[in-house]
Amino acid sequence: MKAGGSPLAGRTVVLGVAGGIAAYKAAELARRLWERGAEVHTVMTEAATRFVTPLTFASLTHGPVYTDSDLFQPRRAIEHVSLADRAHLVIVAPATANVLGKIACGLADDYLTTVIAAVALRVPVLLAPAMNVHMYRNPAVQANIGRLRELGYEVMEPEEGPLAEGYSGVGRLPEPAAIVAAAERLLTRKRDLAGLRFLVTAGPTREPIDPVRFISNRSSGKMGYALAEAARDRGARVTLVSGPVALPDPPGVEVVRVETAHEMLEAVLARAEEADAIIKAAAVADFRPARPAVHKLKKSSVAPVVELEPNTDILRELGRRKRPGQVLVGFAAETRDLLDNAQRKIRDKNLDFIVLNDVSQPGAGFEVDTNIVTLVFPDGRTEPLPRMSKREVAEAILDRLVALVKERSS
Ligand code: CTP
Repeated sequence: MKAGGSPLAGRTVVLGVAGGIAAYKAAELARRLWERGAEVHTVMTEAATRFVTPLTFASLTHGPVYTDSDLFQPRRAIEHVSLADRAHLVIVAPATANVLGKIACGLADDYLTTVIAAVALRVPVLLAPAMNVHMYRNPAVQANIGRLRELGYEVMEPEEGPLAEGYSGVGRLPEPAAIVAAAERLLTRKRDLAGLRFLVTAGPTREPIDPVRFISNRSSGKMGYALAEAARDRGARVTLVSGPVALPDPPGVEVVRVETAHEMLEAVLARAEEADAIIKAAAVADFRPARPAVHKLKKSSVAPVVELEPNTDILRELGRRKRPGQVLVGFAAETRDLLDNAQRKIRDKNLDFIVLNDVSQPGAGFEVDTNIVTLVFPDGRTEPLPRMSKREVAEAILDRLVALVKERSS
């Protein structure tokens, strides 16, 4: 049974299997890839063949299986290079600590690592780690994973649960269905932002009242982080200036953490000049306490009155300095007179378009994973988008933005 509609259909997939107990699950993955129409070439490390046999993969995929002894067959001497040239995608599942380390260092001492070195990231390489929890947490292994992501390898998060050792922890191979889904996403991903520099802001700012208290807002940073990740995946070099949020740094993105609106202003202005596109998703505090107390305010004293003074509008400042060709996108969180307010902000801040967010609707705005937005353009055009995940909203914003960038550079 072969499915036609999958992005895997008709594609040459190199499935690398390294030597861990999870190698048996790679058999099911191989079968699923074949069922989706992929032409699967399996490459097994020497250790992998101790756990499962090449015959298993040959039978399940109706395709060739390569092992280290093939490297030294005179008549097949450069097969690994031609396989690398033909591949549309490489998946390594399970990727052991050893194989991850070798790929991170560019080593090529067996069939699998030789193919990966020869692929040289010309096509997506998806690595699905599986190992013991302590090995996974080993700082050297983590450093290798960080390096791999920086280089552009797609490294999946292993799952948490019972391990072969008899105890639980993180380190299980992701389910074959999840690996297939990640593979399909990689094959359909656009690379239309390659060569562009993006500056994205995210999260709230905190304005201190005293050393332990601050004024802030409900922004979780999820929209800005989704934008940064989507732009990265489409090939942009991304800098993310983030207020305090609970989200981890997205791999492959330069993250600058700030606290106050003033710190965000300085971080953004220092990097604005070189950016091809700037997206200001941050919920910047409009006001800050005029004189933050040096010492913690005591409750025994009379109830304090906190006098506020305005923060600089970062977006307006960026609009003033916008260089020709640069694209500037703002967000507007509104609860009433939505379109009028959005139009005014576009004019006042010299924006290319604004992402209008009715934060009073359920499933929109702060703290949730979905958003409902309308894109508003300077000529009065509006484009309402349905309720979508923040990642999908991010992709839609980037679609409009790339059209503008291309228009300007042509
Ligand atoms: N913004 C900014 N600096 C500020 C305040 C806001 O850069 N000091 C940016 C936000 O990042 C967002 C946009 O301005 O992209 C709109 O923010 P919003 O709070 O909706 O509007 P304001 O411009 O603050 O206007 P108002 O308070 O009148 O709604």
